[in-house]
Amino acid sequence: MTTTARLELDGKVYELPVIVGSEGDKAVDITKLRDLSGYITLDPSYANTGSCLSEITFIDGEKGILRYRGIPIQEMAEKSTFIETAYHIIFGHLPTRAELSEFSDLLTKYELLHEDMKYHFEGFPTTGHPMAILSAMINATSCFFPDLARSTRREDLKVQAAVLLAQVRTIAAFAYRRSRGLPTIYPNPMYKFTANFLHMLFSLPNKDYEMHPEIVKALDLIFLLHADHEQNCSTATVRMVASGQANVFACAAAGVCALWGPLHGGANQAVIEMLEDIRQSGDDGSNFLKLVKDKNSGKRLMGFGHRVYKNYDPRANIIKRQCDELLSVLRKDDPLLDIAKRLEEAALNDPYFVERKLYPNVDFYSGIIMRAIGLPPEMFTVIFAIGRMPGWIANYREILESPTPRIYRPRQIYTGKTLNHYVDKIQRSSVPVQ
Ligand code: SDX
Repeated sequence: MTTTARLELDGKVYELPVIVGSEGDKAVDITKLRDLSGYITLDPSYANTGSCLSEITFIDGEKGILRYRGIPIQEMAEKSTFIETAYHIIFGHLPTRAELSEFSDLLTKYELLHEDMKYHFEGFPTTGHPMAILSAMINATSCFFPDLARSTRREDLKVQAAVLLAQVRTIAAFAYRRSRGLPTIYPNPMYKFTANFLHMLFSLPNKDYEMHPEIVKALDLIFLLHADHEQNCSTATVRMVASGQANVFACAAAGVCALWGPLHGGANQAVIEMLEDIRQSGDDGSNFLKLVKDKNSGKRLMGFGHRVYKNYDPRANIIKRQCDELLSVLRKDDPLLDIAKRLEEAALNDPYFVERKLYPNVDFYSGIIMRAIGLPPEMFTVIFAIGRMPGWIANYREILESPTPRIYRPRQIYTGKTLNHYVDKIQRSSVPVQ
């Protein structure tokens, strides 16, 4: 196995160390490159650039492998729950019964928002997107936990994690209720994490939501499948913000903002809007795929493609099965699921998609489950954010506990004007300089 890379620049040869991960992934360590050669590397979307060593999640995009702390996602999906998985991702091991009970008690202890938080909710228009409310209210939460926000002590991480997970879920539910002009429903300590969320979303002051075990299981699985995914856009953002030693609430709020875009976590909302447009147009999907393949259309098959997976996203398979299971238990049909399956079938047999290795990703089917549960599309990325919170917290912790903590600060290649000087207004021509 190569242990050094040789790079020849301007007639000089530089030897750079090669790093090999525990699963065999390899990197050329360029930490010293600029000092040695005066050169930097350029990789605008970081598609070829590793920002860190991490022990949390392993993905093999060519083989469609995803493991949380070494455990395959299929096993976690089949045997675990979201909160147990969250603990496993954050603290590095599956919790003992006692550890899980202690963590569950902390989640219950911190499930209520400070009463003054409701004034912030009342300030938002009912049409405000819940992702905007979520990011704002996560930062607002830090104002009610100032000592916790300031702390970088490892022993405070468990409470920080519990506060974030519990409060984010309650904030999300309150945001949904406000958008519907409904009274907020407070958490009920009788319920576990996901059931409590459904209770806060759908109960009425005079009638408790009828808890369907199948719906609780499906939503818990959605959270679990979104819990972490190595250095995706939002997690890399969390690490960036954490590297400047901002508090964990600020890091989580930054993660929410980065997640929101339709190329990332916002894709689940975009998928449903795409499927709805196809349904309303009466197209069987074939005209839409023609548009997608026409570069000038600006259309993309949302929920398809992935920077890392050049094979099936293993989460998509699990969610697709869960869609069929939940809809049959609820005795529901969803025409959008039929359209999605037709699009998948057509795309997987179409050279445009096959040549580009475009497969369904986690967002392609997840919206179908959330629709079946009764959530509106604007809440879908909020669900993604609740699920991703453990991954953001675990990555925040890795930054905090890094043996060589340094602020993330990429360099650039400057291509602007060379040396220029100030020109007094009088001397400036009336025509603005291009
Ligand atoms: C998530 O990183 C993560 O791990 C993210 C995530 C997580 O858990 O955190 O997995 C969650 O964000 C999943 C992705 C959700 N986004 C979407 O579904 C939006 C649609 N997909 C794409 O826009 C795209 O596939 C990305 C953003 C996901 C990946 O973009 P890349 O890696 O930059 O790929 P690209 O845009 O350079 O595309 C390469 C080629 C291009 O064609 P050519 O120029 O080579 O002819 O593939 C085409 C693209 O036009 N292409 C698509 C397409 N995705 C890529 N064509 C049509 N439809 C698509 N969806």
